[in-house]
Amino acid sequence: MARLQDRVAIVTGAAVGNGQAFCQRLAREGARVMIADIADASEAIEKVREQGGEIEAVHVDVTSEEQTQMMARKTIERFGRIDILVNNVGLYHEEPFELISFDEWRRMLSVNLDSLFLTTKAALPAMKSQGFGRIIALSSDTIWLGTPYLVHYVTSKMGVIGFVRSLASEVGKYGITVNAITVGLTATQRPPNEKLVGSILEHLLPQQAVHRADEPEDIAAVVAFLASPESSIISGQTLNVDGGVARH
Ligand SMILES: NC(=O)c1ccc[n+]([C@@H]2O[C@H](COP(=O)([O-])OP(=O)(O)OC[C@H]3O[C@@H](n4cnc5c(N)ncnc54)[C@H](O)[C@@H]3O)[C@@H](O)[C@H]2O)c1
Repeated sequence: MARLQDRVAIVTGAAVGNGQAFCQRLAREGARVMIADIADASEAIEKVREQGGEIEAVHVDVTSEEQTQMMARKTIERFGRIDILVNNVGLYHEEPFELISFDEWRRMLSVNLDSLFLTTKAALPAMKSQGFGRIIALSSDTIWLGTPYLVHYVTSKMGVIGFVRSLASEVGKYGITVNAITVGLTATQRPPNEKLVGSILEHLLPQQAVHRADEPEDIAAVVAFLASPESSIISGQTLNVDGGVARH
């Protein structure tokens, strides 16, 4: 598997969870990877290096313009280019609408949506000058389902779809594609998923077309495909990867 040989990928929010699986998959397919996260990414780095992959991390708050610009600079300094941007970072927090404060609303939109604006702004010039780029944004199947107690989260993840559709139309001429993945509840074994995996999954599985839990590796396979030259004709799209809970 060397579909991504000589490619350089930035994966945001990859210190833990799905992002770790994305880094491992991208590296296995030949990409050199830069993690951008506010948390310690040493576990994610170790897992990729154990399998012989090349990976670094940079401490970045993706809601900061200055820090996302620095993320792009450091990636180019270290690896020479930026081919793939996976905006994976995401906050998730369940709360009835009437209890969501304005601060929580703004924080959710900032981490889930401003991050996509800022990291794309930072990575786009390199992609444009290379004549190749893959921007992949993580959204959620809750946008199809209208899941309750997530008005701030679902709104932010729906915003991702608008961003992808509009930007794709502007940058296709430079060999850059922009796509989103709507992910279902994934068995990352991290809060809140560790408790959800036991309880909600039991309730969710019978509703899925495919009766097994989504694993981070399932999403990673789609990320790798969208990052590869094989997906060059796909842009402005939203791919639903949730075992078929939402028949989108
Ligand atoms: N896990 C699921 O079940 C699920 C379901 C649907 C969608 N998604 C989406 O997939 C993506 C990954 O989900 P996950 O569950 O693996 O996430 P996670 O909560 O396990 O990890 C999120 C990462 O983002 C980092 N982060 C948070 N704020 C940051 C900031 N301001 N700057 C930089 N890094 C920051 C955290 O440190 C963490 O490493 C998210 O966009 C999420 O909305 C996940």
